[in-house]
Amino acid sequence: MSTRPAIVVDGITKSYGDLAVLTGVDLTVGKGSIFALLGSNGAGKTTLVRILSTLLRADGGAASVNGFDVSAQGAEVRGAISLTGQFAAVDEVLTGRENLALVARLRHVPRPDRIADELLERFSLADAGGRRAATYSGGMRRRLDIAMSLIGDPLVVFLDEPTTGLDPQARLEVWAAVRGLAAAGTTVLLTTQYLDEAEQLADRIAILHEGRIIANGTLAELKRLLPPAKVEYVERQPTLEEIFLAVVGDRNKERKVAS
Ligand SMILES: Nc1ncnc2c1ncn2[C@@H]1O[C@H](COP(=O)(O)OP(=O)(O)O)[C@@H](O)[C@H]1O
Ligand SMILES: [Mg+2]
Repeated sequence: MSTRPAIVVDGITKSYGDLAVLTGVDLTVGKGSIFALLGSNGAGKTTLVRILSTLLRADGGAASVNGFDVSAQGAEVRGAISLTGQFAAVDEVLTGRENLALVARLRHVPRPDRIADELLERFSLADAGGRRAATYSGGMRRRLDIAMSLIGDPLVVFLDEPTTGLDPQARLEVWAAVRGLAAAGTTVLLTTQYLDEAEQLADRIAILHEGRIIANGTLAELKRLLPPAKVEYVERQPTLEEIFLAVVGDRNKERKVAS
C-alpha cells in the first residue's frame, strides 16, 4: 500500500539537562494499525509520546503525525490526535454519561448527548452510564477515559500505558476496547512495559532501550531474531493469568446463580 504513514519519527533526540533520554529514535506507524512501544520504566516512552502530541519539544530530529510536522504544525497535529495518559481525565463526581457529554461540549461536537450514549454503548458502559464515575472499577474508568479521548474522531490515538495498575480482568476489557479502535480505522500508538500486552495487541512492536529503538517488527519478525526454538515434548502449563481468570470467572458465575 502506498498510503502515507500515520506517524513518522526520524532521529528524534531529547535530553533533560545532562540526562540523554532519546538519542535518535526512528519509527513508522502505518494507518489504522496498533503499534506498541515497549520499554521498561524510565526508557523514555512518555517523553516520546509527549513529543508526538506536541506537549514537549524534541532537541533534534523530526516527527510527523498524519503528515503534519510536530514542531512546525502543532495545531494541525493536535487536531488529528488524542492522548490518554496513565492518569485518567475522568471526573469522579460526574456520571459516565455526563463526563462524555462534557467533553463533547468542550470540543464543540454536535449532539453531545447522542455521542455520549453511542460511546457508552460501544465501550459496554451503557448500564453504568447514569452512575457516578467514582463507583466504577479500574477497567470501567479506563474504558471511559478511552471513550472520552475518541470524541471528535481523532485519526491517531496515543495510549500511554493504558493498563498499568489494572487487574487482569480489567486489562482484558481495555484490550478489547483498543482492538475495537483499530477495527474502526483509528491508528493506535500505545506504550507498555508488558510483553504480553504488546504480543496480544500490536501489529508491530518497537523496543525502546537506552535512547533508541533496538528492535522493530511484527511479533513473527521479532521471534525470528531469536535462535529457532527446540521442540520439546512437554505439556504446556497454563500461565498464572489464565489460572487467575479461570478461577475468578467461575466465582463470578456462582455469584450470578446465587443472586
Ligand atoms: N521533566 C523531566 N525532567 C527531568 N527528567 C525527566 C523529566 N521527565 C522524565 N524524566 C526522566 O527521563 C527518563 C524517561 O522518562 P519517561 O519518558 O517518563 O520514561 P517512561 O515513560 O518510559 O517510563 C526517566 O529517567 C525520567 O526520570
Ligand atoms: Mg511513562
